[in-house]
Amino acid sequence: MRSKVTKAIFPVAGMGTRFLPATKSVPKEIMTLVDRPLVQYAIDEARSAGIKEFIFVTSRGKGALEDYFDNAPQLEQALRKKGKTELLEILKSTNMDSGEIAYMRQHKPLGLGHAVWCARRLVGNEPFAVILPDDVIAAEKSCLQQMVEAFEETQSNIVAAMEVPDDKASSYGILDIKEDMGALVSTKGMVEKPAPGTQPSNLAVIGRYILTPTVLQKLNKKTVGAGGEIQLTDAIDDARNDGEEVYGLRFKGTRYDCGSKAGFLQATVAFALARSELRDDLFKFIQDMVAADKAAE
Ligand code: UTP
Repeated sequence: MRSKVTKAIFPVAGMGTRFLPATKSVPKEIMTLVDRPLVQYAIDEARSAGIKEFIFVTSRGKGALEDYFDNAPQLEQALRKKGKTELLEILKSTNMDSGEIAYMRQHKPLGLGHAVWCARRLVGNEPFAVILPDDVIAAEKSCLQQMVEAFEETQSNIVAAMEVPDDKASSYGILDIKEDMGALVSTKGMVEKPAPGTQPSNLAVIGRYILTPTVLQKLNKKTVGAGGEIQLTDAIDDARNDGEEVYGLRFKGTRYDCGSKAGFLQATVAFALARSELRDDLFKFIQDMVAADKAAE
């Protein structure tokens, strides 16, 4: 029987140190691109791909994230009273149904692989998606939807992949390519954060995965990898060593690394320019800034 992917894990237990001091009290995933928190983009993407169960792996200090997904009846009533129907609809579209969302604590930040492992009992014995909300992907067809379609064909592990320049490869998990079939590549290995110059290709793994339960079993070993953390890529490669296929999918879309300040700012500008009510003013503002900057040179 062919499996369907209906569960997604959102590992959000990291400390978000690159955004200190903001992340002292605001979880990184609640920070907003224009007017929507990062996590809302992740949820919308998951829904578009047919996900029905949303599993968040959180940590101390992430209360604002849980609150965000609560219904807000008083706020809804106030908007209704004031006849602000458009805002009311926007608000309602962010509501989660009871039982649709679950929270699991990662008690120590032992790494992404460990965070995923924390959700193992909720996932059970079926394929599942992993979405890192700080990778935001603008795409006509959502990245996860593209991956689910590829999974329907392959029924194997799939990671989202994108080309990165040589000098950036050591910041990513990098695929060792067995066969390049265009959008899809099969792999014969995967290295987390290779030493500069040793990367087997320029195809990097970014924050979307569809994985088989074997990867969870491999995570049981709690093998410590690059950076002293339990790495998800190591467990995926371990599953491949055991005979499972691991594919990379060159998705169509633009990925913003919203875990970094530069990426977050770029995404903010790109998403704002994509909004008709903001575009003209912002565009003019940027043009004026560039002109003033050039004049000052
Ligand atoms: P990052 O490497 O971006 O770490 O984690 P971080 O803590 O979020 O941010 P910085 O580097 O300190 O600024 C990638 C993803 O893995 C999750 C993070 O929440 C993020 O979604 N993660 C990482 C965990 O859930 N647990 C961990 O132990 C580590």
